[in-house]
Amino acid sequence: MSPPPAASALDLIGRTPLVALDRAHPGPGRILAKAEFLQPGGSVKDRAARAILLAARSDGRLRPGAPVVEMTSGNMGAGLAVACAILGHPLVATMSAGNSPQRARMLEALGAEVVLVPQVDGAPGQVTGADVAAAAERARAIAAERGGFHVDQFHAAEGLRAHEQTTGPEIWEQSGGRVDAWVACVGTGATFLGVAAALRQRNPRLLCAAVEPSDCQPLAGQPVAKPRHLLQGTGYGLVPPHWDASLMDASIPVTDEEAEHWRRLLALREGLHVGFSAAANACAAAALLASGRLAPGAVVATILCDTGLKY
Ligand SMILES: Cc1ncc(COP(=O)(O)O)c(C=O)c1O
Repeated sequence: MSPPPAASALDLIGRTPLVALDRAHPGPGRILAKAEFLQPGGSVKDRAARAILLAARSDGRLRPGAPVVEMTSGNMGAGLAVACAILGHPLVATMSAGNSPQRARMLEALGAEVVLVPQVDGAPGQVTGADVAAAAERARAIAAERGGFHVDQFHAAEGLRAHEQTTGPEIWEQSGGRVDAWVACVGTGATFLGVAAALRQRNPRLLCAAVEPSDCQPLAGQPVAKPRHLLQGTGYGLVPPHWDASLMDASIPVTDEEAEHWRRLLALREGLHVGFSAAANACAAAALLASGRLAPGAVVATILCDTGLKY
């Protein structure tokens, strides 16, 4: 029997399919990728957006009809815009001007007010940690001016918990309880840490590898030599506030060229048009399987973070 109609777009968030990337990576082993680009806001951030707003409404930090304010590289903003439309809040999204213009257009189409913040040291398409800090500062100021709820995704624990309670268990079930490694890039770290915690609980021998832009690997304890890279929404050159080093066994570097190559490979071989961080994840998963660090026939789970339509 088909499920009943969803009550709203909020109920469309989560329960995304898991897809095998057998054509892009015929072996050794297998890559299973969570298709988060199929969410209503087009990315993995919908889960965190919904969880943070529902928690803030239930404990009174977000009053009915009050504005919601957040810095975004586009994806959190889209998730928040979806949730704000359903819950009845205006949304103000501050964004570094270095993010692709398609992102601002998507947010505006979903009813958000977009405030573009000039870049500090990045370049168009290459957003640095300093660029993001400037956009975050602007969000903080606007929230104070307008009496709005500042989402502050880097410090909101609900995002991480949403992935621990939904994304991780879904991956485990959909894989039939067979995941040997988990590979994902890191923005706030909510996806990587939440899923790692859930999967590790189910398989204590799980290998967890963070994906970092090459020459921008603070999680690996290396100085940041190249803050500019293509992996928008991740690799900000800092260790995020909720970081738990015990959940990371390795950091896998991915170059811009590799991310471009894998974006094309996923589109042409798999029919999956996704963004650069998703492509980097698939690239890193293949590298891990080729490294000999895992048993033959190992299964690596990863995440297709967002759609390629806004790049
Ligand atoms: C395209 C993209 N990939 C990956 C991520 C990382 O997600 P998280 O913040 O859960 O680490 C983001 C976050 O905004 C993103 O926009």
